[in-house]
Amino acid sequence: MEHTWKALLLFIFLCNNGYTHANDCVPREFATGIVCVCNATYCDDTPDSNPRIPENGTLYWYVSSKSGLRLNLSQARFNSCKASSYAPILTVDPSKRYQTIFGFGGAFTDATGINIRNLSQAAQDQIMRTYYGRNGSRYSLGRIPIGGTDFSTRPYTYDDSPGDVSLQYFSLAPEDYNYKIPFIKRAIELNPDVKFVSSAWSAPAWMKINDRINGLFGFLEKRYYGTYVDYLIKFLEEYKKHGIDIWGITTGNEPLNAFVPFDRLNDMGWTPSTVSEWIADYAGPMLENSEFNRTKILILDDQIFEIPLVPELVFRNQKAKHYISGTAVHWYFDRFFPSLLLDDTHNLSPDKFILMTEACTGAGFLNILKVALGSWERAQEYVLSIIEYMNHWGIGWIDWNLVLNKAGGPNWINNNVDAPIIVNPETDEFFKQPMYYALKHFSRFVERGSVRIDLNNNLSNVESTAFVTPSNEVVVVLYNRNNKEEDVVLKDPNNGSVCLKLLPYSINTIIYAQ
Ligand SMILES: *[C@@H]1O[C@H](CO)[C@@H](O)[C@H](O)[C@H]1NC(C)=O
Ligand SMILES: *[C@@H]1O[C@H](CO)[C@@H](O)[C@H](O)[C@H]1NC(C)=O
Ligand SMILES: *[C@@H]1O[C@H](CO)[C@@H](O)[C@H](O)[C@H]1NC(C)=O
Ligand SMILES: *[C@@H]1O[C@H](CO)[C@@H](O)[C@H](O)[C@H]1NC(C)=O
Ligand SMILES: *[C@@H]1O[C@H](CO)[C@@H](O)[C@H](O)[C@H]1NC(C)=O
Ligand SMILES: *[C@@H]1O[C@H](CO)[C@@H](O)[C@H](O)[C@H]1NC(C)=O
Ligand SMILES: *[C@@H]1O[C@H](CO)[C@@H](O)[C@H](O)[C@H]1NC(C)=O
Ligand SMILES: *[C@@H]1O[C@H](CO)[C@@H](O)[C@H](O)[C@H]1NC(C)=O
Repeated sequence: MEHTWKALLLFIFLCNNGYTHANDCVPREFATGIVCVCNATYCDDTPDSNPRIPENGTLYWYVSSKSGLRLNLSQARFNSCKASSYAPILTVDPSKRYQTIFGFGGAFTDATGINIRNLSQAAQDQIMRTYYGRNGSRYSLGRIPIGGTDFSTRPYTYDDSPGDVSLQYFSLAPEDYNYKIPFIKRAIELNPDVKFVSSAWSAPAWMKINDRINGLFGFLEKRYYGTYVDYLIKFLEEYKKHGIDIWGITTGNEPLNAFVPFDRLNDMGWTPSTVSEWIADYAGPMLENSEFNRTKILILDDQIFEIPLVPELVFRNQKAKHYISGTAVHWYFDRFFPSLLLDDTHNLSPDKFILMTEACTGAGFLNILKVALGSWERAQEYVLSIIEYMNHWGIGWIDWNLVLNKAGGPNWINNNVDAPIIVNPETDEFFKQPMYYALKHFSRFVERGSVRIDLNNNLSNVESTAFVTPSNEVVVVLYNRNNKEEDVVLKDPNNGSVCLKLLPYSINTIIYAQ
């Protein structure tokens, strides 16, 4: 039986003429795994020129695996195999629909731009195309820090003149001009539908009670609640002058860090009651009365263990609730807390979305290796997280630094971490890690406006999620977390069944017309 369907696959494959091959991965092996190497003239990709919607009865099947496949495309056919009695069945139900997907992307930190600029012009553009291009990951989101973060080479904000209440000395930083704006503009050229979420890590130190950019109890002084909104609006104005529209703004990155002793990250603390007052009486009305009246306000921008409690407390202020569009969640403690927290947050107010706004591997003192070149385990963490967020009301998933160097920096407090793309300036190359492909398995296919659909799966070794796209394709993503092959049968009530042999530790994206 097994040989029959393999032969059939091969037959279909050979018969299919109008098929364009992708540039293949150029693999390089490190002690920690396999990366794909790109340079000024070559980068593996996934061309657009295949028929967008596979022909009647056929499915596209993209596979990436620990063994080294990277979005390897083959085709399969519905009803071409007899489901063996033991093969477990995954059933898609396109009629049962959940949230609408907004997109996937990464963050334009200073470190990202510094590292991209350490390569030749041509290699720089390869990076931008491999993330935002049609033949690349087709990223549709970006996160733009407002001023500096720890992934800057110095601490700064846009107005470091103490007491400048009229913000006359407000100005963007050299980092914006050198490391952010050029690459953000290129992303917009590559994908005009890209949307940006912005977060400040801290207000200017002089607006805070501790008079510092980081450290304990750095709360915004109440007398500057309005000034700080003016500051954020100035940022929106300056970026707009460069043709960059900001879709949404969070209430600030990880306010909880201001309660953690010895934490050196740029931070600004909120409590549910101070942030709801700030939104209700300042940020909400002031944005509404500005030309940025369509800018979404996202709360939290912090760890999963704070939900649903923090949103619940914030929403008690009805005026604040009115101005809030959604909750931004970071992934760092996800593995210790159930996804049920996301469901509870959704249920608090189903009209408010949930967006995952920051994730990276290699973070924290438990990770001795900041960058683990080629690590499949880290790709697995990405895939499992994306599937969890998708299955629990997340509308998108935004990676942290788009690009880092081999040390996982630069970072002004040495809080280095890993990233899906690592540059190797000595040879004008960059390395695409398995994490890059993990995200691409979603971002490339689950375009904005796709809706998550039901997928009945009770397999313990296969994680799954499914969508229907605006052009009516079904996209199913399966992850085999087993170290053995898994035989599964994917069943669609309208189209029948297809047998799939999932390689050990493999990410599988399956696409077919509905
Ligand atoms: C770029 O990569 C391609 C594919 O590996 C290779 O053929 C080419 O020689 C590389 N170019 C340089 C300048 O290294
Ligand atoms: C995508 O790849 C195809 C095939 O290699 C190429 O013809 C096309 O120009 C590429 N498109 C973009 C936007 O790079
Ligand atoms: C699609 O395939 C089915 C059976 O394989 C056939 O009955 C149907 O006519 C086909 N439709 C088109 C539009 O080719
Ligand atoms: C699945 O069924 C629908 C509805 O009959 C049809 O339009 C679509 O082409 C089928 N898809 C495949 C891959 O056969
Ligand atoms: C990779 O894809 C090719 C078709 O492009 C297919 O022949 C081959 O079997 C696939 N490899 C694996 C291991 O799935
Ligand atoms: C929102 O701002 C735009 C300008 O950006 C303006 O044209 C529009 O009238 C404003 N809408 C409201 C409801 O204030
Ligand atoms: C840029 O590349 C050079 C080597 O070409 C290296 O010495 C330097 O550390 C790199 N800069 C950063 C910020 O990684
Ligand atoms: C798995 O789901 C199938 C239906 O899709 C059901 O028949 C079977 O009993 C389920 N198995 C377990 C262990 O829940």
